[in-house]
Amino acid sequence: MKRKINFLFLFGLMCIISSAQTTSNFSQLWLNDLDVSKIETSWGFSKANKSINGNILSVGGQSYNKGIGTHAISKLLLNVNKTAVDFNALVGVDDEANNNASIEFYVLCDKKVVFHSGLMKKGDAAQKVHVNLSGVNKLALLVTAGNDGNDNDHADWLEAYIRYSGQTPSIITTPASKPYILTPKTPDSPRINGAKITGASPNKPFLYTIAATGKRPMQFKAKNLPKGLSLDSETGIITGKVAKSGNYEVKITAQNSFGKAQRTMTIVIGENKLALTPPMGWNSWNCWGLSVSQDKVKASADAMVSSGLINHGWTYINIDDGWEASERAADGEIQINEKFTDMRALSDYIHSLGLKMGIYTSPGKLTCGGYLGSLHHEEQDADTYNKWGIDYLKYDWCSYGNEFEKTDKSHHEYMKPYITMSEALSHQSRDIVHSLCQYGMDDVWKWGGQTGQLWRTTGDITDTWESMARIGFAQYDKAQYAQPGNWNDPDMLVIGHVGWGPSLHPTRLTPDEQYTHVSLWALLAAPLLIGGDMSQMDDFTLSLLTNDEVIAINQDVLGKQARRIIQKDGKEIWVKDLEDGAKAIGLFNVGESDNVSQLFNWDGKANKTSIEISWKDLNISGKYQIRDLWTQKDIKTENAVFETEVSYHGVVLIKITPIK
Ligand code: GLA
Repeated sequence: MKRKINFLFLFGLMCIISSAQTTSNFSQLWLNDLDVSKIETSWGFSKANKSINGNILSVGGQSYNKGIGTHAISKLLLNVNKTAVDFNALVGVDDEANNNASIEFYVLCDKKVVFHSGLMKKGDAAQKVHVNLSGVNKLALLVTAGNDGNDNDHADWLEAYIRYSGQTPSIITTPASKPYILTPKTPDSPRINGAKITGASPNKPFLYTIAATGKRPMQFKAKNLPKGLSLDSETGIITGKVAKSGNYEVKITAQNSFGKAQRTMTIVIGENKLALTPPMGWNSWNCWGLSVSQDKVKASADAMVSSGLINHGWTYINIDDGWEASERAADGEIQINEKFTDMRALSDYIHSLGLKMGIYTSPGKLTCGGYLGSLHHEEQDADTYNKWGIDYLKYDWCSYGNEFEKTDKSHHEYMKPYITMSEALSHQSRDIVHSLCQYGMDDVWKWGGQTGQLWRTTGDITDTWESMARIGFAQYDKAQYAQPGNWNDPDMLVIGHVGWGPSLHPTRLTPDEQYTHVSLWALLAAPLLIGGDMSQMDDFTLSLLTNDEVIAINQDVLGKQARRIIQKDGKEIWVKDLEDGAKAIGLFNVGESDNVSQLFNWDGKANKTSIEISWKDLNISGKYQIRDLWTQKDIKTENAVFETEVSYHGVVLIKITPIK
């Protein structure tokens, strides 16, 4: 009898176990068993059975063991082969999100929306999804950001599974090309690159390195240098202090055994003359996150020189969050933590290489990373940065939100922390660029220029198309606010090895997407801050960062931001006016467009597309010389139209110059 009971018990148990996989004639695929790294996510990495931040999945106060934690915008396209039965899930905002999280979930079958959650907020109970999949070929799962940006939009697909009878459903991804290099090698003969204008305040230390490629040794000369400046003829580093305001036209020569190059550049000495072209450099955040250390910063500075980046105009070495000690000194002075030994020695070293050094803090009690911020110590911290030899300050918002909440939240209150810091910086004996980082609140582009040189326009970027493209292509309405000394900052470059912490990974952007990223940022006159680890750059990454003709578009003296003139059928055309009367034009194949069903690449093919720009669209006439900027080759002269094939998520970047 006992044996029989055991047998029955065992038989029952087997039935229960196997029913998790096969229900009558159906099999069941839990979405969390898929390779969730393939989910396109505009922030972080989607996780199986965990929230995007790695916590237990929890929606509306209830926890769940199974599911996928993701972040809007999030896209997953599946082949369900017309043999699936249904899709079942619960959806909601994860409880780990802040109160401002708001998202919408969609399920689409063969381009048709079959489920829409409406706007969901933190605390809402999970909504049930049941979708009949009979006859359906492709299933798309989408999370959008509501209409308030994707800040904090932690989204969960809970207990999500597909029942099917034939082939196992599989993820559809778009194939990516192998890295391909378009930038020609720089010649051995000298070439002078980088910005043709630079500014500084009277009587404050001046540092400018002539950016020149070509074999070393090289001899530099500068004619008409303003009084107070001197040039190191071997390194091309110009230092000193100029007392008298004015615009100085300096004739620079670089010579080596292969030849000679010459260029005239303008040194502007005067008040408020910083960042006359968008700052170019590196920032520690996208690679090291809070694990940044003095050694890593020093290695990055060394790499900027040894990789040759310095010869293309790359200048700033910016330490982001994570350098601060947990307590101030008895006199209130901010201290460095155990990962750093001596900021002044570090900046001396960086300056000796001909580079500049930046630092980060927040107007709040704490920084975004939870380190000490500058609240009530603004003047003292600015003094300390001056003493440390800092050239650039990124001033974040984060916990300042707590102070802001106590106010009437007026326009003035948004500006206040940046006015305070800008005044503190202006009292210093050195120039310190002020970079505002408050993600675009209160239309910062309309007033940021009164308190600093650049301002972040969006939340944080990450290394996905969903993030980079959404941020980059959304800058079209801010073009009018960019001008010399004032720049919209769509966040740092996510190419090379990134990681936001101790372990890095190669960027998730495809090679074509990386061309789009650099081309778009160049057109946008955006600050160019390398986010990857410079000590491990491959040839492809380096080729993206050392194309002088592309960089010249970004650094153009006119300081105009490109305007979007066409956005249609997944194609965008952006045009930037240049100082010499030419125009830089980016022709982008963004693939998908904003309509919910067109957000997916349904056939999973990296289709090239043909894009055309006519002189009529550009409001111009006459003959133009067309040059491909990535390959640095003249294409042809044309007097009506230019048409080209553009890779999926890729770009063709040209310059057209009137032929007189
Ligand atoms: C915010 C900023 C980032 C970075 C971190 C540091 O998130 O937007 O760029 O500076 O803070 O904690």
